[in-house]
This record gives sequence, structure tokens and C-alpha cells, in this order.
Amino acid sequence: MTFEINGSAFSETPRAGQCLRTFLRQLGHFGVKKGCDAGDCGACTVLIDGDPVHSCLIPAFRAEGHAITTIEGLAPDGSMHPMQQAFLDAQAFQCGFCTAGMILTCASLNQAQRQDLGVSLTGNICRCTGYRAIEDALDGKINIEDDAAGDAFGRSLPAPAGPEVVRGAARYTFDTEIPGLLQVKLLRSPHPHAKIVSIDKSAALKIAGVHAVLTFEDAPNRLFSTARHERAWMDPDDTRVLDNIVRFIGQKVAAVVAETEAAAEEACRHLAVEYEILPAVFEPVQAILLGAPLIHADKSAQHRVANPQRNVVAEIHGEYGDVAVALGKAAVTYEGTFTTQRVQHAALETHGGMAWLDASGILNVRSSTQVPFLTRRALAEIFELAPDKVRVFCERVGGGFGGKQEMFVEDILALAALRTGRPVKLELTREEQFVATSTRHPMRVTVRAGADKSGKLTALQLDVLSNTGAYGNHAGPVLFHACDESIGVYNCPNKKVDAVVAYTNTVPSGAFRGYGLPQTLFAVEAAIDELARQLGIGPFEMRRRNVVKPGDPMISPPGSGHTDVLYGSYGLDQCLDLVERAMQAESPKPRLSLDWLIGDGIALTMIDTVPPDGHFADARISLRDDGGFDLTVGTAEFGNGTSTVHRQIAATVLATSVDRIRLLQSDTAHGGHDTGAYGSAGTFVAGRATQAAAEALADQLKNFAASAIGENLDSCSLDDYAAVCAGRRTQFAQLAASARSLGKPLVATGTSEGTPRSVAFNVQGFRVAVNKGTGEVRILRSVHAADAGRVANPMQCRGQIEGGVAQSLGAALYEEMVIDECGRVINPSFRDYHLPSFADLPRTEVFFADTSDSLGPMGAKSMSESPYNPVAAALGNAIADATGIRFTSVPFKPDRLLPTLQEKFGA
Ligand code: FES
Ligand code: FES
Repeated sequence: MTFEINGSAFSETPRAGQCLRTFLRQLGHFGVKKGCDAGDCGACTVLIDGDPVHSCLIPAFRAEGHAITTIEGLAPDGSMHPMQQAFLDAQAFQCGFCTAGMILTCASLNQAQRQDLGVSLTGNICRCTGYRAIEDALDGKINIEDDAAGDAFGRSLPAPAGPEVVRGAARYTFDTEIPGLLQVKLLRSPHPHAKIVSIDKSAALKIAGVHAVLTFEDAPNRLFSTARHERAWMDPDDTRVLDNIVRFIGQKVAAVVAETEAAAEEACRHLAVEYEILPAVFEPVQAILLGAPLIHADKSAQHRVANPQRNVVAEIHGEYGDVAVALGKAAVTYEGTFTTQRVQHAALETHGGMAWLDASGILNVRSSTQVPFLTRRALAEIFELAPDKVRVFCERVGGGFGGKQEMFVEDILALAALRTGRPVKLELTREEQFVATSTRHPMRVTVRAGADKSGKLTALQLDVLSNTGAYGNHAGPVLFHACDESIGVYNCPNKKVDAVVAYTNTVPSGAFRGYGLPQTLFAVEAAIDELARQLGIGPFEMRRRNVVKPGDPMISPPGSGHTDVLYGSYGLDQCLDLVERAMQAESPKPRLSLDWLIGDGIALTMIDTVPPDGHFADARISLRDDGGFDLTVGTAEFGNGTSTVHRQIAATVLATSVDRIRLLQSDTAHGGHDTGAYGSAGTFVAGRATQAAAEALADQLKNFAASAIGENLDSCSLDDYAAVCAGRRTQFAQLAASARSLGKPLVATGTSEGTPRSVAFNVQGFRVAVNKGTGEVRILRSVHAADAGRVANPMQCRGQIEGGVAQSLGAALYEEMVIDECGRVINPSFRDYHLPSFADLPRTEVFFADTSDSLGPMGAKSMSESPYNPVAAALGNAIADATGIRFTSVPFKPDRLLPTLQEKFGA
């Protein structure tokens, strides 16, 4: 068959039934990505005769005789298509996994199509940006600033990988070829709870191309948690690589390693598994009752499961003051029970990786991970390997949002590589992503609150029941975080928490942007509004009267025992002012019928800038012969922007420009350690390590220059690519040459221990219109203010905020994993789950408080996950303001809202 691909004729016959996406990737066009393989996301977009198509839906043979353009061929050799340049100028990407497809679609639009981007971009999903920057690209906006030596920090500098991202040349987890690679496919449990009696492999092993079938009998008999934390005691040891008990539909039962995916899948179908069905429980409220089916009865306190006889993984109980008495005396009280649903990270790149043994016997794992160092530690322990015999690294990762702070694939990859001695690959499908990775913890939160006549909070109480699913990864830490800053931000003499997280026979929950706070804030921020309404106090004023201020204790019972959270800076007051001013500002009046009810709502959040109990990062920086610098950090880049910010920090300290800083990152082979890119620690923790290393090297450079020319160190500074001592300049390249001639390398290291920690703040405001006849909610205005300290890169930070708000709006308005009465996820696809597309999202106005943090690197604070937190709460408050009805469960879907609206307003 003959195809024209990127202007060149090409002869090759696709496999029978092969889709164009896999065919093009097989030919080396790695810019063609997979997000869903179902026509729902657009990551695989290519042009056929100039028209954008989802290549995953097109049989490869259909392209015969047509001209195919992939991102690699959009512009002639080495040049940049105007749309690629526009995406660069606007920095219209974060992880960049959607970018190739998005650019191809945008490049194909005519003027009329550009006028209706909601329709024109329906087929291309971006999970990171919230689409504003993409619209900017189409409008020809330039969002980046120029660099200046020694003055990079605080500028909107572009991402270093930008040119590769827009050309489709950035390499993600699966964008490589390894000779002799075998494919891994997993057989998954059809039962929510069962014991595996036997697995007959014989028929599967007869399938041509099958190398191995791995079951629980082949896996190490060692328990661990898929959650990756610096301290293992944070999570229960309740998981095996392959277990003989399955606890949810979708749990892996066996792995087949074969020459092709098709052979591996066929072999999975030929495995004969005999199950002994066990009773199952799906709701946490039933799971914690006496007599409920026990999911981890074989575990104990030794495995860090709080009460296996009640399916309780972890619990928190404590009181400060006396809430019952305070509620009894309060001028106004509020009590409400709120429920939040199960939502998925939906990073466009699915989990997966490759593993192989190299010539020196080192197990190499290349995977889509946010935590390479902690994954290496786990693999070494599980497989009883010396840590230096395991290397884990990631290339660019296509989105994480906390979902890749887990070890879902690396363990099975390691087992397969060790057992077969061959390189192996496992790439999860989108369906597997939904049914077998992790989700946000669904929670039921009851809040009780009281205030005196002046609007001072006198009582605040949370009862929380969280659903961790079948395994306890992140169960306890998420519960702790959910109950911590959500009430710690309010000054109140009487607080109480009773919180429990329960096992159920459902897909596990795990780490997800915000880490429990969005769920509890939904209830707490509603209570603050309800008290304010009863007292006739405005929502901004009510919060001003009650939020903590510098010097106030941040109390959440029973108290964490942590004393390292300090007010490194404080901008919550500014955030409230910024949102209030913006909401009051004139805006175009919507032309809406009388069916629409309009209302405003706000919510706030505080977040500790680093997770507790240890978050470590090492950095190393050295002067190169050419006068540039090599910076090595462990933290990963998955759209969070750390690779830009670290170079900005180092360039500023070393009086150079960011293009002179070469960054090596996220590879255990580079040495050092990094707890991981989660909890917004990429800037706050790893950034401090980079700053420390750069400052130590700056001292060395000054010292070396001073002694080389016999000047006093006090007369030395760094300026414009040179050390300047008593007015005499020595260029960095000259310093490098002198150092080399003396055999003295100029290199320094820095370490950050993630403590003391600071606090960051966000305030979200919405103006909404609610249609009382249909239940539809329209966002008329979205305003967000963030206290991110000194903002390292305003353009990137704004993107993080817009992306966080967008992702949270998806969850607040539409997204929901539906689990049937048998524990099965019944909508495991983007189409049935409803990810927000361009048309679904408003533009969010973003403001920054003017603060500088004494604890963060160069005054910066974390700002990746907290923008997510107040969104559902603010939306709930706005809907309540519009309708007078307090809706207490998300998502706010029209069919959920309509019955109550009709009850109040009539059909
Ligand atoms: S991978 Fe083709 S549309 Fe998602
Ligand atoms: S940048 Fe669009 S999915 Fe990450």
C-alpha cells in the first residue's frame, strides 16, 4: 500500500485491522498520541488531505492514496508553522500531550470555524490549560517575556521544552523504540470480591508469541502500598503485585507477556480462572457496620489498617473546646450533610511504562511517574534488589494531577522484565485507567457550625466518612488533609472532628489535586455562607471576621503534632479584596429570560505549602566549560512548569540567562534524592534545593575569581555572565577554564527538607445563572485570587490556576464515575464521563496577592493544586444565592437540580 505521509510517498502494509494511529506511531511519528483510542479526545489528530481526523478511528488502509500530515510534517524541514509559533508565543500548553492534535486542528480552521471555537474544538480535549491560553494562541497573543541575565525570576519565560512540544518532538513515556520489546496485557477481575482458587495457564501459553503468564504464584509475597510517600507509615501495607484475593472489579489477576498486544490479549482470554466468590460491600456507610463483609480481614495494626474488623483504614477524632456547649449557646447555627462523587484525574497520557535489564544487570524502568525515587525504593524492597540495581526515570509526563503519585504499573513491569529477561512494555487503556487506577475519594461530610450575633464563629464540627475503595493508598493522609486546613483557616474556640475512611469493594481512591480539601471545603464554606445569611452579613465580611491572621494558631483537632507550619507570608486579606473588587466591577449584562436566576458565591482555601512529615529534594549544579551550567534535580515535569522555574531560580542566582542552564531531571541514575513532584512541592521544596545549590556555587565562583586575581572576596559579585571583583570581570567560561587547569571542579549541591512550611491562600468567586425550568447552570463570571508569594513565572502560574479551576469545574458540573450495584464502573470512557471541552468552560479572571514568602524559594509559594479546592464550594454558594436552595451534592447536573427547583418554583 502507498501512503503520502508528510509529503513523502511511503509503502508499507498495515496489519489487518490496524488503526491509522498505531500505524503512524509504528512508522516513528510519535507526535500522534493516544488519549482514549475511542475518538473522544483528539490527542491522535492528524490531517488527511488537510482535514483533521481522529486517527484512532480510521482503519490504516483507508488512508491509502491520501495525503497524511502529522505534527512532524506540518511545517517544512526544521521550520515552524504559524500555528506552532502561535502556540509557542501564547504558551498554549502545560503537559503538552494534547498539543500536537490541538495545533493540527487549529491550523486547519477557516475564519468561520475560528468564530465558533466551542464547536470547532469539540473534538480536542485539553485537561491542563482550561483552554484560555489556546484561545490566546488563536488570537495571536504573546504571553511570554524576554529573559535578562540575572533577572529571570518573576518573568513569564517560556517552557524550555516548548519548541519540541509544538513540533511533536518532545518524548513522552511511550515515545521510544526498544529492540526486542515484549508487550504486557493484564487479565482483570470480573468480580468485586473473590478468592482465586486456581488459574490454568496451559491454553494461554500455547498462543503463538506468548512468553510468560504471571499470576500470584509468581509474584513476591510482600505487602506494600501503591501510594508513594517519603514515610511508608503513612499508608497501609495492603497490596501485592498480584494477589490471590481480588477486592474490586478491575483488579489485576494475571499478566501475559507476549510478542504483540494482540497475542497478549488473546492469551488473557484463554486463561481459565476459578474464583470462590466472596460477599462484597460497596458503600462505606454499610462497610463500617458490624457484620459487613470484611475486605482486609487478614490485615492488622501491623499493616497499618486501623480496624480491619470494621473495614476502617484510618480515623481521626478530636475536640478543641466544647462544640456541643458552643452550639447550644450560638446565636445562629447551621447543620448540613454534603456528598461528593468519585472523579477521575483523566490525564491524557495513561499510566504505563517500559522495563528492561541492562548489560550490568540494572533493572531500568521508564514510566509515567511523579515519584521516580520513591518508586525505585519500593521496587528494590519488593524484589529484594539493591537500590543501585534499580533505576526509575521518566521522560516528559502527559499530566499527573496526583494520579501518578502511585505505583500502578512499575511493579508488574519489573516482575515481567525480571521473569522474562526481556524488555517489556505496559500501556494502560483509557478503560483500565477508569476501572483500575485511582480516583478522588468520595466523601460524606456533615458540618455543624455556630456563630454569635456579631458573626464570630463559635463552633465548627466535621463528621467525615470517606471511601477509599478496595485499597488504602493515600486513605489516611487524604483524610487528615481534608480535615486540617479546611477548618484550620478559621479562628474558632470550639472545633471537633470525627472522620473515618473505609474500605469498600470498589476501584481504589488515591491522591488527586487538592488531596481531600475540595470535598470538605464544599461543606465548610457552605456553612460559613449559611451563618452569614442568617446574620445578614455579607460573605466577604463574614470571612474577614473569622479567618486566621498572622500570629493566630491554625487549629484542627486533634492536632497533628506538627509545629512547622508558619506564616511565611499572608495574603488572604488581599485575595478577598481582589475577588470582591472584581465581582463588583461592571461587566456586560447577560441577556437572559426570566427563567434564569442570577447569584454570586465565593469560597476560600488555605493550604500548607508542603506535605507534612518529610519532603526532601537534592539539587546539584556545576559550571560547564562553555560558561553555562548543568542543573540536576529529581523532580518531574508533567505540565507543572518546574523545569522552567528551576532554571529561573538558578539563572537569577548565577547572574546568567535561562538558556545557559541545562536541566537534567527525574532520573534516579543522576543520584541525589527527591521525594516527588506532588503536594505542589516542585517549586517550594525542590526549588529551595536549587536555590541553595546555586547560591553555594555562586559563592564558589566569587571565591575562585577573587583568589585568581588577588582581590578581596567582599569586592566580588556576579553580574551578566561574569564574576566581577573590584571592577574586573572574569567571564564564567574563563573561570571554568582556570578551574579545569587547576583540576578544581566548580560544582555545588543543595538540599531541602521541606520544613518549615508556609501557607498559601486562594479565593474563588462565581456569578452564575440557574435556569429554574431546566436546571442548567451557566457561569457568567469566574474570578480567582491567589496568594502564591512572589510569583516565579506569572504566565505559568496563571495557567496552573486556570487549569485547576477548569478541572474542578468539570467535577463540580458534570464529571462522575458511576458505579452500579455490583461495584462495576459503568461509564469508563471520556464520552460517557464528560470531560469539559472548550465550550464548557468560562474564562477565569486571575489576580495575585502582592506578598513574598520568607520560607519559599525567592519568596515563592506553591500554587498547583490549591486553585482546585474552593471551586465546588464557591459554585454551591453562588447557586444557593441565585435560587435560595442549598444543593448539597456534586456534580450540579441539571437533572439533579431540576426536581428541587420545580418543587420551589413550579414546573
Ligand atoms: S486517541 Fe484518538 S480521539 Fe483520543
Ligand atoms: S496541555 Fe493539554 S492535556 Fe496537558
